Amino acid sequence: MKSTLYKATEAGANEIRRFFNGTFAISNKEGINNLVTEADHAAEKAIFSVIREAYPEHYILSEESGEIVTQSEYKWIIDPIDGTVNFANGIPLCCVSIGLEFKGEIIMGAVYNPMMNEFYFAEKGKGATLNDKPIKVSDKAVVGTSCMATGFPYTYLDQANGPIQVFEKFIRKGIAVRRLGSAAIDLCWVAAGKFDAYYEHKLEAWDSAAGSLIVTEAGGMVTDFANKQFSVYQKQLLATNGKIHAAVLEVINGGEI
Ligand code: IPD
Ligand code: CA
Ligand code: CA
Repeated sequence: MKSTLYKATEAGANEIRRFFNGTFAISNKEGINNLVTEADHAAEKAIFSVIREAYPEHYILSEESGEIVTQSEYKWIIDPIDGTVNFANGIPLCCVSIGLEFKGEIIMGAVYNPMMNEFYFAEKGKGATLNDKPIKVSDKAVVGTSCMATGFPYTYLDQANGPIQVFEKFIRKGIAVRRLGSAAIDLCWVAAGKFDAYYEHKLEAWDSAAGSLIVTEAGGMVTDFANKQFSVYQKQLLATNGKIHAAVLEVINGGEI
């Protein structure tokens, strides 16, 4: 299954590479900037064909095509391009993200940004790697000097302690919070120790399936905003190196830094 995951991820990434900085059709989903391009569809098609050839009976959940429902306990959760707005603007922060679920638990994940040649992989209980070399989270223990990432949904979330309010609190304290535009890369960069934390208020399963496992296998912590074990089927996610988890969570939930 690992080799199918690698092959599928590479097949999707080849399509990203092929279309990047070239010409491709773009259309809108709901909201003015929620794009889907010809490359998203091409990458999805290439990924599907690798998985369907190896495991025609497996369940597939993919961003652009929805679900191929089967009775299988294996489910491939696919984001053919995470960071589509970056991709469409020629910004090389985009990737293929594929997680493999078995009996409701993510057991393998791969995230590949072909433009930066970064291939992240994790298997449950076996650690996480970047280009086949082990990675681990940072050990920064102070929020005030940490480097974080976040993301914002395509449509404004008007709620108490929403994305803007939490972001403002960190920024007013002079804390470095980056907004890369790819949830899967944000997660992998926590796993690799570049970011000490990453949080987002409204994600989908395909954004987080692979990256959340890569973080925990790199020694990090991933929860929802109630500090419960993270499930890819819920929207809120906080991923950290573990050491600053409680402190960041408190800020997300309305507390002060
Ligand atoms: C988006 C990116 C972005 C995040 C959004 C996602 P897409 O995925 O991961 O960083 O802030 O919530 O929807 O649309 O590029 O696949
Ligand atoms: Ca995505
Ligand atoms: Ca996508």
